Amino acid sequence: MTESAYLHATRTAYDTVAPEYAELLRNELDTKPLDRAMLAAFAELVQGPDGGEGADLGCGPGRVTAHLHSLGVNAFGIDLSPRMIDVARQSHPGLRFEVGSMTALDLADASLAGAVAWYSTVHTPPELLPTVFAEIHRVLAPGGHMLLAFKVGDERRHLSQGYGHKLSLDVYWTPPEHIAELLAKAGLSLDAQLIREPDETERPRSGRQAFFLAHKPTHKPTGGPTGTPTHKAAEKPKAPESDS
Ligand SMILES: C[S@@+](CC[C@H](N)C(=O)[O-])C[C@H]1O[C@@H](n2cnc3c(N)ncnc32)[C@H](O)[C@@H]1O
Repeated sequence: MTESAYLHATRTAYDTVAPEYAELLRNELDTKPLDRAMLAAFAELVQGPDGGEGADLGCGPGRVTAHLHSLGVNAFGIDLSPRMIDVARQSHPGLRFEVGSMTALDLADASLAGAVAWYSTVHTPPELLPTVFAEIHRVLAPGGHMLLAFKVGDERRHLSQGYGHKLSLDVYWTPPEHIAELLAKAGLSLDAQLIREPDETERPRSGRQAFFLAHKPTHKPTGGPTGTPTHKAAEKPKAPESDS
């Protein structure tokens, strides 16, 4: 699928279901202590002394943006769907929400203390995930953190209805090892992985859920593009050890 076909299909689907999605998911985090634990860890990590901004990428109706704000994060939201952004602005009038795409963020390099993608990469065709992670790496300040929530598996499902509407939307389940590899390739360093079993609201349609915390290193890695030492560097003779 081309990038523009993916963006068009996803925008159209979420424009169609925005109010119903918002209503259904409004209090969903209340019943998910492990998900909240990862959001709390992310919030603590991004609240450095300079109090930089945290972007909720693919924010939908802004429920996660608002949750992060309640945890002290200087949070704002970005979403592909103008209708989702309308709903987010109405629901959380004190917060900032903008229309935009994770594939080409309208944000300056190194401008964010943190970025969350909470089930928003689940519609991204696998071949475009490197573009999204490269964008997240670009906009994070050195030392900035990211939190990713996604569905564990290895398949694409096409939805022709959802939230009481007809729609046309692809959803991807992704192996955690693949995401870990893509993050490393993008220059992001993985700090923690939580993989939990589906709860009763997710079973039987969805399987395990994954939450990855990563950060952008403060120093450029030496060696290969993934930070793995190159063969030559690995072979470099060690300096003799001192006895003192
Ligand atoms: C499953 S919803 C999750 C929404 C929100 N994060 C939440 O948990 O309530 C997926 C959201 O990601 C957005 N999205 C998908 N691809 C996007 C992209 N390339 N850029 C920005 N938003 C995107 C969709 O418009 C939709 O609102």
